[in-house]
Amino acid sequence: MSEIKKAIDLLKSGDVVALPTETVYGLAASIESRAGIDKIFATKERPFFDPLIVHVSSVAQAKEYTTEWNEVCDLLAEKFWPGPLTFILKKNDSVSSKITSGYDTVGIRMPNQEQTLNIINELGHPIAAPSANKFKKISPTTAQHVRDEFPQLHIVDGGPAEVGIESTIIRIKDNKVCIYRPGMISLEMIKQELKNNNFDNITVEYVESPVAPGHLKHHYMPKIPIILCLDLYTNDYSLAHIPMSLLQNRVMWKVEDDAALVARTMYAKFKEFDSKDYTAIIVLIKEELFKADHFQGIVNRLVKAASYYLPEEISNKS
Ligand code: TXA
Ligand code: MG
Repeated sequence: MSEIKKAIDLLKSGDVVALPTETVYGLAASIESRAGIDKIFATKERPFFDPLIVHVSSVAQAKEYTTEWNEVCDLLAEKFWPGPLTFILKKNDSVSSKITSGYDTVGIRMPNQEQTLNIINELGHPIAAPSANKFKKISPTTAQHVRDEFPQLHIVDGGPAEVGIESTIIRIKDNKVCIYRPGMISLEMIKQELKNNNFDNITVEYVESPVAPGHLKHHYMPKIPIILCLDLYTNDYSLAHIPMSLLQNRVMWKVEDDAALVARTMYAKFKEFDSKDYTAIIVLIKEELFKADHFQGIVNRLVKAASYYLPEEISNKS
């Protein structure tokens, strides 16, 4: 039996499977299966208060699960779907409150991954899928990453994820697009698309998400402490602020200028460093990249992953 056929059979029977998406691998269950949804939370050891994203294979299917789809959603979905953009929308009764952790809204996105879109089509309804990692751990970007953490799971191998960090999450309220989680679809990209289509009255802002877990300070932490440094702050004087024992067998990674490359390789890099016996990972980033619009998804994950910051003020960013 093919990997895909087996995945569909398992989903139909109320089981979970790991599926590739262009952002990170997801741990999927059919949204029609209560047992499957329960199994996602149990497998991930994820608290029930952290809601799941529903993955659809078309805009028409997305509209079946919300009372709130509007012309701005149409515009942004037309531009960015299939792709790494999740809409938070008022849910209707077709979405179980188990998926949304009791919230009256649901996260919906159409992933840009052919095998997974085919699986959703064959299944005939959407899948709920958080990233396929244990709660608070780094998201997997290859099938092997998933296998390392969940050896028993059926995994559809789609190769390395093309984007590499999780989707941008937005909530549209009146005349505002609130970015709850930055990703590779940046604030300026959304703004530009609105402007190009004469929605000049709509503003786009980073807003603290009302849902806590995605905003936990240390959501994406590797085992070895990360010291996040703006590149001006790596002289001996600055490093004197870091415990000596951490610096003894440190490894250094200079964040490259190419944001797409950095996003695609970052989690694999952290996992690789984690498997060696380094005492710390020093991540060096240029100040201009730290501030750049198209780096904000990456910066958000770096700040959450780090234990130490030079200068200290950069820890306040999220
Ligand atoms: O790229 C992605 O988004 C990946 C792939 C698998 O699609 N998924 C992903 O799922 O990152 P997860 O569960 O690891 O993170 C989803 C985040 C959670 O932190 C959750 O708090 C937020 O989405 N979320 C889900 N539903 C929400 C809602 N109704 N309101 C606010 N935030 C929500
Ligand atoms: Mg996650």
